[in-house]
Amino acid sequence: MRVGLLGGSFNPPHRGHVAMALAVRAGLGLDEVLLIPAARPPHKPGHDAMASPHDRLRMTEAAARAHGLRVSAIELERLGPSYTRDTIAALEAARPGDTFFFIIGADTVDELPTWRDAAALLRRVQFVVVNRPGHDLEANLAVVAARLGEDVAAGLRAHTVTMDAADVSSTAIRRRIHDGVAGWEDDLEPEVARIISEERLYGRDFVTTPATIRGIGAHVGSRVELRGWLYKQRGKGKLAFVHLRDGTGVIQAVATRDQLGEETFARLKGLQQESALKLRGNVRADERAPGGYELDVDDLEVVAPAAADYPIAHVSDQGIDFLLGKRHLWLRSSKQHAVLRVRNEVIKAIRDFFYEREFVLVDAPIFTPAACEGTTNLFEVAYFEDKAYLTQSGQLYMEAAAMAHGKVYCFGPTFRAERSKTRRHLTEFWMVEPEMAWATLEDVMDLAEAFLEAVVARALERCKEELKTLERDTSALERVRRPFPRLTYDEAVKLLHDKGLPFEYGNDLGAPDETAISESFDRPVMIHRWPAAVKAFYMARDAANPALALGVDVIAPEGAGEVIGGGQRSIDLADLERQLEVHKLPREAFEWYLDLRRFGAVPHGGFGLGLERLVAWICGREHVREAIPFPRTIYRKEP
Ligand code: 4AD
Ligand code: MG
Repeated sequence: MRVGLLGGSFNPPHRGHVAMALAVRAGLGLDEVLLIPAARPPHKPGHDAMASPHDRLRMTEAAARAHGLRVSAIELERLGPSYTRDTIAALEAARPGDTFFFIIGADTVDELPTWRDAAALLRRVQFVVVNRPGHDLEANLAVVAARLGEDVAAGLRAHTVTMDAADVSSTAIRRRIHDGVAGWEDDLEPEVARIISEERLYGRDFVTTPATIRGIGAHVGSRVELRGWLYKQRGKGKLAFVHLRDGTGVIQAVATRDQLGEETFARLKGLQQESALKLRGNVRADERAPGGYELDVDDLEVVAPAAADYPIAHVSDQGIDFLLGKRHLWLRSSKQHAVLRVRNEVIKAIRDFFYEREFVLVDAPIFTPAACEGTTNLFEVAYFEDKAYLTQSGQLYMEAAAMAHGKVYCFGPTFRAERSKTRRHLTEFWMVEPEMAWATLEDVMDLAEAFLEAVVARALERCKEELKTLERDTSALERVRRPFPRLTYDEAVKLLHDKGLPFEYGNDLGAPDETAISESFDRPVMIHRWPAAVKAFYMARDAANPALALGVDVIAPEGAGEVIGGGQRSIDLADLERQLEVHKLPREAFEWYLDLRRFGAVPHGGFGLGLERLVAWICGREHVREAIPFPRTIYRKEP
């Protein structure tokens, strides 16, 4: 095939380009003409703007489409110098057997001597010169003759196509657009004019696409604006590598004194960590860059310079108590950021799990008249002339709701005033509590294992980046597959005794006991049928042995401990009345609950999962306090 090649910035492509391509195609009887946008970096807005390579490619394609011309992105892809030996070599390799005709305007012929290896090139490949009114071909050829030789100039002269129409100037078009002069679109294909006006390229109000660091991959080759905070910067002399954090990720941006100018560059170098910035520039894919992309900064706006001495500039040097006191800032650091992202995904996974299984979300109250899990750990609050308690669990309300809707759940904050100082206890934590009518202990265990399997799998699938940031070895998480081992309390005690541990039958399991049991298995373990004395008043009894309560605890591996507690509920009115007395609970406050046993009580049950325990375990964090944005513990209610 005989192929014409027309290189240029196409910034924007206009009727002059099209006319030139068509004239050469007709004049030389070519099979096709390729328009080749050059790989020039985009720069600042205004009439001298260079639109991004991506935008120039789209405009050029639009112009070509309208006239049966074709476009090659070969230079944009290589990002190499324009229309030179390299382009020629690449085309020759890509299209063996084709003959190429390099089209140049008569006005630029005098630039040929500045090309690399121009003389050799001009003797080897066929150039076509397009001469149009207003171009001084002879003067320009004289420059070629003087610099590269008479024969080269003669060769060019012999291959000239002359056009009647004067050329169109891209610069003039951009100036008209910028100044808002009517008729600026006259020399443009309508589709090109549409792209320019919709995306406000070249205009006075030139906008740069706002982007997020997480979504930056969609903007390679384009100029974007990133808004964020300065994480750190390094570099010397006239080069700066800026790590910008925008909440969705961290990106390395490259700034040079040449691009930014002396003053702005100095301003950047003087900024403290956490200064709020807008950075604009071109996005580049770079395998060596941390996130795979880099920003070539051409513009910087300082929105809020940060004070000196960011208190937690060196997180790893700080003690946990100091960091918790600075929790409002600590949230910004990469690991804490990752934990809260995982928490977000886990919450969504939990809601989806129940929604898909047709559980109805029913919100439980936070002010309650009485204890649910035991009287020793209630927060009392003034309630007008009376007092109320912050809820320990929404369960009792879910039992009421289950009799109205069948399958329900609540998900909200719960409060425990126990003076526990362990790494698993918060005074305020979030609990999700499903409750099902017509359910036995076995149904509750089936649900608990399906639930944990689904939620953990979802975190693994969607939080890969976060788990990497947290340096989490995910193998234990990958083993969270049904069925989970199910041990009775008696079997669990035997296992502890077999391991030589001094556990007294009848006690609740302590953290070391839970860890010892879980170490015998490769996935979460369910322990069921507990001595009634260590469980709450509402537990149903095992018909086979009334000393046992139909409760279940799910113990997570790796020392994470009890993440789920639940079971089957008692529906025996007389038994419940007795249990209220045994547990010293105020009967009046539970009258409504006893009503549920008077009006159509059916077997039912459910469980509660502590969100922070699950998130801390998934994230491999030692302490649950990192799994909640602003932890409340016996020692801390600030910030
Ligand atoms: O075992 P718990 O106390 O069970 C209940 O509250 C039942 N009413 C739930 C139900 O059946 N609807 O608490 C359930 C879970 C625990 O397994 C644990 O994950 C979490 O809540 N949890 C705590 N998390 C953080 N800090 C604390 N102080 C917690 N206490 C319980
Ligand atoms: Mg429990």
